[in-house]
Amino acid sequence: MRFYEEFAEKYDRLVSWENRFKRESGFYQKLFSENKVRTVLDCACGTGQHVIMFNQMGYKAKGSDLSPAMLRKAKINSKAHGVNPEFIISDFRDLTRNFDEKFDAIICVGNSLPHLLSDKDLTKALREMYRLLNNNGILVLQQRNYDRLVKTQMRFFPVSMREDEVFFYVLDYFPKKIVFNVVDLETKAKAFKVYSTEYNPLRKDNLIKLLRKVGFRGMNLYEDFQFKKYDTDESDDLIVVCKKGTVKSSVDDNAPNDILA
Ligand SMILES: C[S@@+](CC[C@H](N)C(=O)[O-])C[C@H]1O[C@@H](n2cnc3c(N)ncnc32)[C@H](O)[C@@H]1O
Repeated sequence: MRFYEEFAEKYDRLVSWENRFKRESGFYQKLFSENKVRTVLDCACGTGQHVIMFNQMGYKAKGSDLSPAMLRKAKINSKAHGVNPEFIISDFRDLTRNFDEKFDAIICVGNSLPHLLSDKDLTKALREMYRLLNNNGILVLQQRNYDRLVKTQMRFFPVSMREDEVFFYVLDYFPKKIVFNVVDLETKAKAFKVYSTEYNPLRKDNLIKLLRKVGFRGMNLYEDFQFKKYDTDESDDLIVVCKKGTVKSSVDDNAPNDILA
Protein backbone atom coordinates (compact mmCIF):
# COMPACT_ATOMS: atom_id res chain seq x y z
CA MET A 1 0.00 0.00 0.00
CA ARG A 2 1.66 3.17 -1.23
CA PHE A 3 0.46 5.34 1.64
CA TYR A 4 2.41 3.40 4.28
CA GLU A 5 5.50 3.07 2.12
CA GLU A 6 5.60 6.86 1.87
CA PHE A 7 4.40 7.62 5.37
CA ALA A 8 6.37 5.06 7.43
CA GLU A 9 9.10 7.53 8.37
CA LYS A 10 6.48 9.96 9.66
CA TYR A 11 4.15 7.49 11.40
CA ASP A 12 5.76 7.59 14.83
CA ARG A 13 5.56 11.39 14.78
CA LEU A 14 1.85 11.28 14.02
CA VAL A 15 1.09 9.01 16.98
CA SER A 16 1.80 9.94 20.58
CA TRP A 17 2.94 6.50 21.70
CA GLU A 18 3.65 7.52 25.27
CA ASN A 19 0.04 8.64 25.75
CA ARG A 20 -1.31 5.65 23.90
CA PHE A 21 0.55 3.18 26.07
CA LYS A 22 -0.53 4.99 29.24
CA ARG A 23 -4.12 4.54 28.10
CA GLU A 24 -3.81 1.03 26.66
CA SER A 25 -1.38 -1.07 28.69
CA GLY A 26 -3.77 -1.71 31.61
CA PHE A 27 -6.46 -2.84 29.18
CA TYR A 28 -4.27 -5.50 27.63
CA GLN A 29 -2.86 -6.54 30.99
CA LYS A 30 -6.36 -7.20 32.38
CA LEU A 31 -7.67 -8.85 29.23
CA PHE A 32 -4.63 -11.06 28.75
CA SER A 33 -4.51 -12.10 32.38
CA GLU A 34 -8.25 -12.96 32.46
CA ASN A 35 -7.83 -15.03 29.29
CA LYS A 36 -4.51 -16.67 30.23
CA VAL A 37 -2.77 -15.17 27.21
CA ARG A 38 0.92 -15.87 26.77
CA THR A 39 1.43 -15.51 23.01
CA VAL A 40 0.27 -12.56 20.92
CA LEU A 41 0.27 -11.66 17.22
CA ASP A 42 -0.23 -8.06 16.13
CA CYS A 43 -1.27 -8.68 12.51
CA ALA A 44 -1.15 -5.01 11.44
CA CYS A 45 1.76 -4.11 13.64
CA GLY A 46 2.92 -1.05 11.70
CA THR A 47 6.04 0.34 13.35
CA GLY A 48 5.96 -2.43 15.96
CA GLN A 49 5.14 -0.38 19.03
CA HIS A 50 2.54 -2.77 20.50
CA VAL A 51 4.75 -5.78 19.83
CA ILE A 52 7.57 -4.06 21.70
CA MET A 53 5.24 -3.14 24.58
CA PHE A 54 3.89 -6.70 24.85
CA ASN A 55 7.39 -8.16 24.92
CA GLN A 56 8.37 -5.68 27.61
CA MET A 57 5.26 -6.74 29.57
CA GLY A 58 6.46 -10.35 29.46
CA TYR A 59 4.32 -11.77 26.63
CA LYS A 60 5.75 -13.64 23.64
CA ALA A 61 4.62 -11.27 20.90
CA LYS A 62 5.24 -11.23 17.16
CA GLY A 63 4.22 -8.78 14.49
CA SER A 64 3.16 -8.92 10.88
CA ASP A 65 2.19 -6.23 8.41
CA LEU A 66 1.77 -5.75 4.69
CA SER A 67 4.16 -2.82 4.48
CA PRO A 68 7.91 -3.49 4.25
CA ALA A 69 8.64 0.16 5.14
CA MET A 70 6.57 -0.03 8.35
CA LEU A 71 8.29 -3.30 9.30
CA ARG A 72 11.72 -1.78 8.70
CA LYS A 73 10.76 0.89 11.25
CA ALA A 74 9.47 -1.84 13.59
CA LYS A 75 12.86 -3.50 13.57
CA ILE A 76 14.68 -0.22 14.21
CA ASN A 77 12.26 0.61 17.07
CA SER A 78 12.70 -2.85 18.61
CA LYS A 79 16.46 -2.54 18.57
CA ALA A 80 16.22 0.87 20.26
CA HIS A 81 14.10 -0.74 23.01
CA GLY A 82 16.46 -3.69 23.47
CA VAL A 83 14.02 -6.36 22.29
CA ASN A 84 14.19 -8.60 19.25
CA PRO A 85 10.72 -9.88 18.29
CA GLU A 86 9.99 -11.59 15.01
CA PHE A 87 8.37 -9.46 12.31
CA ILE A 88 6.97 -11.04 9.17
CA ILE A 89 5.63 -9.45 6.01
CA SER A 90 2.08 -10.71 5.64
CA ASP A 91 -1.23 -9.54 4.38
CA PHE A 92 -3.78 -10.27 7.10
CA ARG A 93 -5.83 -12.04 4.45
CA ASP A 94 -3.00 -14.51 4.14
CA LEU A 95 -1.80 -15.20 7.66
CA THR A 96 -1.92 -19.00 7.62
CA ARG A 97 0.45 -19.04 4.68
CA ASN A 98 3.04 -17.10 6.66
CA PHE A 99 2.65 -18.53 10.19
CA ASP A 100 2.69 -22.18 11.20
CA GLU A 101 1.95 -21.57 14.88
CA LYS A 102 -1.16 -20.42 16.74
CA PHE A 103 -1.58 -17.59 19.22
CA ASP A 104 -3.57 -16.97 22.41
CA ALA A 105 -4.43 -13.45 21.25
CA ILE A 106 -4.41 -11.56 17.96
CA ILE A 107 -4.78 -7.82 17.75
CA CYS A 108 -5.59 -5.70 14.70
CA VAL A 109 -5.77 -2.13 15.96
CA GLY A 110 -5.26 1.46 14.86
CA ASN A 111 -8.04 1.39 12.25
CA SER A 112 -6.20 -1.22 10.16
CA LEU A 113 -8.90 -3.74 9.21
CA PRO A 114 -11.11 -1.15 7.42
CA HIS A 115 -8.38 -0.76 4.83
CA LEU A 116 -10.16 -3.74 3.25
CA LEU A 117 -12.95 -2.37 1.12
CA SER A 118 -15.17 -5.41 0.55
CA ASP A 119 -17.04 -7.88 2.74
CA LYS A 120 -15.31 -10.66 0.84
CA ASP A 121 -11.85 -9.41 1.84
CA LEU A 122 -12.96 -8.66 5.40
CA THR A 123 -14.31 -12.20 5.75
CA LYS A 124 -11.08 -13.61 4.39
CA ALA A 125 -8.99 -11.65 6.89
CA LEU A 126 -11.22 -12.48 9.88
CA ARG A 127 -11.21 -16.16 8.90
CA GLU A 128 -7.42 -16.14 8.76
CA MET A 129 -7.26 -14.54 12.22
CA TYR A 130 -9.72 -17.15 13.51
CA ARG A 131 -7.60 -19.98 12.11
CA LEU A 132 -4.46 -18.64 13.72
CA LEU A 133 -5.97 -18.47 17.20
CA ASN A 134 -5.82 -21.24 19.78
CA ASN A 135 -9.20 -22.44 21.05
CA ASN A 136 -10.58 -19.78 23.39
CA GLY A 137 -8.05 -17.35 21.96
CA ILE A 138 -9.12 -13.71 21.80
CA LEU A 139 -9.25 -11.19 19.00
CA VAL A 140 -9.00 -7.43 19.64
CA LEU A 141 -10.07 -5.08 16.86
CA GLN A 142 -9.99 -1.30 17.04
CA GLN A 143 -11.30 1.08 14.42
CA ARG A 144 -13.04 4.42 14.01
CA ASN A 145 -16.73 4.58 14.80
CA TYR A 146 -17.85 4.71 11.19
CA ASP A 147 -21.54 4.76 12.08
CA ARG A 148 -20.96 8.13 13.70
CA LEU A 149 -18.60 9.43 11.03
CA VAL A 150 -21.02 8.60 8.22
CA LYS A 151 -23.90 10.16 10.13
CA THR A 152 -22.11 13.38 11.07
CA GLN A 153 -19.82 13.63 8.01
CA MET A 154 -17.21 15.20 10.29
CA ARG A 155 -14.29 16.27 8.12
CA PHE A 156 -11.52 17.81 10.22
CA PHE A 157 -9.55 16.13 13.02
CA PRO A 158 -6.44 17.43 14.71
CA VAL A 159 -4.05 14.55 15.26
CA SER A 160 -0.80 15.79 16.72
CA MET A 161 0.87 19.14 17.20
CA ARG A 162 4.58 19.39 17.68
CA GLU A 163 6.75 22.48 17.78
CA ASP A 164 7.88 22.05 14.19
CA GLU A 165 5.18 19.85 12.70
CA VAL A 166 1.39 19.63 12.79
CA PHE A 167 -0.68 16.70 11.54
CA PHE A 168 -4.39 16.80 10.92
CA TYR A 169 -6.89 14.69 9.01
CA VAL A 170 -9.28 15.91 6.36
CA LEU A 171 -11.88 13.32 5.41
CA ASP A 172 -13.61 13.04 2.03
CA TYR A 173 -16.82 11.02 2.02
CA PHE A 174 -17.87 8.85 -0.91
CA PRO A 175 -20.79 6.40 -1.12
CA LYS A 176 -18.66 3.33 -0.41
CA LYS A 177 -15.42 4.68 1.03
CA ILE A 178 -13.89 7.48 3.05
CA VAL A 179 -10.58 8.99 2.01
CA PHE A 180 -8.43 10.05 4.95
CA ASN A 181 -6.05 12.82 3.91
CA VAL A 182 -3.25 13.29 6.39
CA VAL A 183 -2.07 16.88 6.13
CA ASP A 184 1.52 17.20 7.32
CA LEU A 185 2.43 20.82 8.00
CA GLU A 186 6.10 21.50 8.60
CA THR A 187 5.85 24.86 10.31
CA LYS A 188 9.53 25.85 10.31
CA ALA A 189 10.03 24.86 6.69
CA LYS A 190 6.70 26.49 5.84
CA ALA A 191 5.83 23.47 3.74
CA PHE A 192 3.09 20.90 3.70
CA LYS A 193 2.40 17.56 2.15
CA VAL A 194 -0.78 15.51 1.90
CA TYR A 195 -0.82 11.72 2.19
CA SER A 196 -4.11 9.98 1.32
CA THR A 197 -5.50 6.56 2.01
CA GLU A 198 -8.88 4.86 1.65
CA TYR A 199 -11.05 3.26 4.30
CA ASN A 200 -14.15 1.14 4.27
CA PRO A 201 -16.80 2.88 6.40
CA LEU A 202 -17.22 -0.40 8.25
CA ARG A 203 -20.38 -0.27 10.35
CA LYS A 204 -20.58 -1.97 13.73
CA ASP A 205 -23.45 -4.26 12.72
CA ASN A 206 -21.68 -5.44 9.60
CA LEU A 207 -18.43 -6.11 11.46
CA ILE A 208 -20.28 -8.13 14.12
CA LYS A 209 -22.13 -10.07 11.43
CA LEU A 210 -18.89 -10.97 9.67
CA LEU A 211 -17.19 -11.93 12.93
CA ARG A 212 -20.06 -14.26 13.78
CA LYS A 213 -20.04 -15.71 10.28
CA VAL A 214 -16.45 -16.88 10.66
CA GLY A 215 -17.17 -18.30 14.12
CA PHE A 216 -16.21 -15.64 16.66
CA ARG A 217 -18.34 -15.50 19.81
CA GLY A 218 -18.66 -13.45 22.95
CA MET A 219 -18.53 -9.95 21.47
CA ASN A 220 -17.67 -7.17 23.87
CA LEU A 221 -17.79 -3.63 22.55
CA TYR A 222 -15.93 -0.68 24.04
CA GLU A 223 -15.23 2.87 23.02
CA ASP A 224 -11.85 3.10 24.65
CA PHE A 225 -9.15 1.18 26.47
CA GLN A 226 -10.73 1.93 29.84
CA PHE A 227 -13.48 -0.62 29.02
CA LYS A 228 -16.02 2.17 28.60
CA LYS A 229 -19.16 0.84 26.90
CA TYR A 230 -19.42 1.61 23.18
CA ASP A 231 -22.12 4.06 22.14
CA THR A 232 -22.92 4.24 18.41
CA ASP A 233 -23.88 7.92 18.57
CA GLU A 234 -21.16 9.18 20.90
CA SER A 235 -18.01 7.07 20.69
CA ASP A 236 -15.02 8.08 18.59
CA ASP A 237 -13.73 4.53 18.33
CA LEU A 238 -15.08 1.01 18.28
CA ILE A 239 -13.11 -1.71 20.04
CA VAL A 240 -14.35 -5.28 19.69
CA VAL A 241 -13.04 -8.09 21.85
CA CYS A 242 -14.26 -11.55 20.91
CA LYS A 243 -13.33 -15.14 21.26
CA LYS A 244 -12.65 -18.25 19.23
CA GLY A 245 -14.65 -20.93 20.89
CA THR A 246 -18.01 -22.30 21.73
CA VAL A 247 -19.18 -19.53 24.05
CA LYS A 248 -22.55 -18.25 22.82
CA SER A 249 -22.70 -14.59 21.86
CA SER A 250 -24.94 -12.18 23.73
CA VAL A 251 -27.93 -10.93 21.73
CA ASP A 252 -27.16 -7.40 22.85
CA ASP A 253 -23.73 -6.74 21.43
CA ASN A 254 -23.64 -3.36 23.07
CA ALA A 255 -23.54 -4.95 26.47
CA PRO A 256 -19.88 -5.16 27.37
CA ASN A 257 -18.15 -7.66 29.61
CA ASP A 258 -20.87 -10.21 29.02
CA ILE A 259 -19.18 -13.48 28.33
CA LEU A 260 -15.44 -13.23 28.13
CA ALA A 261 -14.97 -14.56 31.63
C1 LIG B 1 -2.92 2.98 10.73
S1 LIG B 1 -1.68 1.75 10.70
C2 LIG B 1 -1.87 1.05 12.32
C3 LIG B 1 -0.55 0.53 12.86
C4 LIG B 1 -0.61 0.09 14.32
N1 LIG B 1 -1.41 -1.11 14.48
C5 LIG B 1 -1.15 1.18 15.21
O1 LIG B 1 -2.07 0.91 16.00
O2 LIG B 1 -0.63 2.29 15.18
C6 LIG B 1 -2.40 0.53 9.66
C7 LIG B 1 -1.45 -0.62 9.35
O3 LIG B 1 -2.18 -1.64 8.67
C8 LIG B 1 -1.33 -2.21 7.70
N2 LIG B 1 -2.16 -2.88 6.70
C9 LIG B 1 -3.04 -2.32 5.84
N3 LIG B 1 -3.60 -3.28 5.08
C10 LIG B 1 -3.08 -4.46 5.50
C11 LIG B 1 -3.27 -5.82 5.10
N4 LIG B 1 -4.11 -6.14 4.11
N5 LIG B 1 -2.57 -6.78 5.75
C12 LIG B 1 -1.72 -6.46 6.76
N6 LIG B 1 -1.49 -5.19 7.16
C13 LIG B 1 -2.16 -4.21 6.53
C14 LIG B 1 -0.57 -1.02 7.16
O4 LIG B 1 0.58 -1.41 6.46
C15 LIG B 1 -0.30 -0.24 8.44
O5 LIG B 1 0.92 -0.59 9.02
